[in-house]
Amino acid sequence: MLPKDQKLETPPEIFAQDQKNRWSSVESSIWGLKSESPEENVARSLARTLFDQPRRIEPRFLYDERGSWLFEKISTLPEYYLTRTENAILEKEAEQIIALAEVECLVELGAGFSKKTVHLLSQQVNQRGRGTFAPVDVSLTALIGSRDSVKQQFPRLEFHGLCACYEEGLLSIERSLPTLFAFLGSSVGNLDRSDFDRFFQLLSGCMGPDDFFLLGVDCTKEEEVLERAYNDVGGMTSQFILNAFENVNRLMGSNFDQRKMRYHSCYNLQWQQMEMYAVSTSDQKIDFPSLESGFVWKEGEQILVEISRKFEPHQLEQQLEYFGLESIAHCNDPQQWFSLLLFRRCSGRSQSGQS
Ligand code: TRP
Repeated sequence: MLPKDQKLETPPEIFAQDQKNRWSSVESSIWGLKSESPEENVARSLARTLFDQPRRIEPRFLYDERGSWLFEKISTLPEYYLTRTENAILEKEAEQIIALAEVECLVELGAGFSKKTVHLLSQQVNQRGRGTFAPVDVSLTALIGSRDSVKQQFPRLEFHGLCACYEEGLLSIERSLPTLFAFLGSSVGNLDRSDFDRFFQLLSGCMGPDDFFLLGVDCTKEEEVLERAYNDVGGMTSQFILNAFENVNRLMGSNFDQRKMRYHSCYNLQWQQMEMYAVSTSDQKIDFPSLESGFVWKEGEQILVEISRKFEPHQLEQQLEYFGLESIAHCNDPQQWFSLLLFRRCSGRSQSGQS
């Protein structure tokens, strides 16, 4: 038998054989990539989007410690119906979903604290008595929280947290292990069109023949409901979006000033997406000392921080067929505000485009 700490260092069977040596233990039951490709100079990558038109910053800057905390708060607001609606569907349908997806492993992409996933895990334990839960998230804090609660609630499940972006997670899972990949919270709606395309190409390439994919998506609906959800009266969403600029200042020494900006969100009907902006309230010079450059952020000019796309579930099911995913189940809440779609990999029509 291996000494305890050496055992901790051996990557588990969920990793593909040729990927195992890329991962090492960072915490009990949590794995990280040994050589994270050196983070590209943050200042340069930010400047590339800020000097574009319309100016924008990447949504990853939303999720520093305060941002993650603020998002947890948003998910409990009365206006923000997404989390509780998805949770209610999962609670009702988890038994059926797990019965259809006969798997040994559940991989949750961008899992956060994995609060909604308990319904799936408890069905896995009820129906099969065992299994592995592998959440993938860039936040170590979230994975630790998830590990502690899952291990306590489900002692019969194996837990392996992957501290990485979901691309790295997807690429590293053993293809022959029957796996249910879950991507919940309508996070797919936060990908722009080219990231969406890249994500589904990668996913279908990484799925084995016995794998399934569960996708939670927010549906198109009356604009007022959407606009309220992303602009709560208490101003929590505004704080969440503007906090990204504090994070940017910390990372690149810039001088964005929260007192000179306001939050603006609106529904773009043609693109079927909520758009979340910071708007400058007076002309101001933004400096990037490390790049020895800057720009004037003019009064009234918007910087795009995040999008949240809304979907027509049937159209999405059709579209995903052309990425090699066949829809096998579909559930909604009674108002049809949110959908959970279950897919497996298909062959034939999907790849060739013929039926
Ligand atoms: N995926 C969620 C959504 O689109 C979470 C989210 C991302 C969010 N950015 C947000 C929620 C900004 C509120 C505000 O709704």
